[in-house]
Amino acid sequence: MTITMKKLIAGNWKMNGSLAANEALLKGLATGMPAPPRCAVAVCVPAPYLGQFRALANALPGLSAVDLGAQDVSSQVAGAFTGEVSASMLKDFGCRYVIVGHSERRQYHAETDAVVAQKAQQALAAGITPIVCVGETLAQREAGQTQAVVKRQLAAVIHANGHCISEIVVAYEPVWAIGTGKTATPDEAQAVHAVLRAQLKAATDQAARVKILYGGSMNAANAAWLLGQPDIDGGLIGGASLKAQDFLTIIAAAFA
Ligand code: 13P
Repeated sequence: MTITMKKLIAGNWKMNGSLAANEALLKGLATGMPAPPRCAVAVCVPAPYLGQFRALANALPGLSAVDLGAQDVSSQVAGAFTGEVSASMLKDFGCRYVIVGHSERRQYHAETDAVVAQKAQQALAAGITPIVCVGETLAQREAGQTQAVVKRQLAAVIHANGHCISEIVVAYEPVWAIGTGKTATPDEAQAVHAVLRAQLKAATDQAARVKILYGGSMNAANAAWLLGQPDIDGGLIGGASLKAQDFLTIIAAAFA
């Protein structure tokens, strides 16, 4: 990374929460949030709670520095796609980010690289930043395929999105590190981030400003170490984003 940019700490709540639990969590964040934080902050909430976030953000000044994100978006614009949520709907609720291609969606919803690329395209067309997730399974890592897998996943998004590619955020999330308490070491993560940066450089002269987040058991104890790597520009946090104090500690560890 040759230019200084603010890091991004994004929480991925996954399928967790309730009206009451979300309110408690967001009030905890609002109370403890440094003003202003030294990094960009977002929470990616389940779709039914987008409106709740908006209402609370209006009421709680401490949330003014927290951007809203969603966890998925349809690859289609509109129409007969029961259960899907379009990018323009997310925009209506003021979403700044949407996660696309999370490994849980690739695994449980059979999302292909091509579908993930289309989802990124829909987000960009609506003015929403896609957080494009890539990452290898344990079997792929052990077979020495890590670089090939993440490059293939990112290549599909680069191919479909051409000159807009500098507008995305990338998240490297090794599947074996998600929810397992096992993180990549900072060196392991940095090595993959450097590969992704080089791939972006080949696609755009703006690659230095594309944020590449790390995700996978990042927590209050290991965040500073991971975020100290030159090509780690932030974190995508699952479990630890559900506890206000832990998420605030990670935010405090993220400065340029
Ligand atoms: P954990 O932080 O719970 O490992 O989850 C990471 C993740 O999948 C974020 O998208």
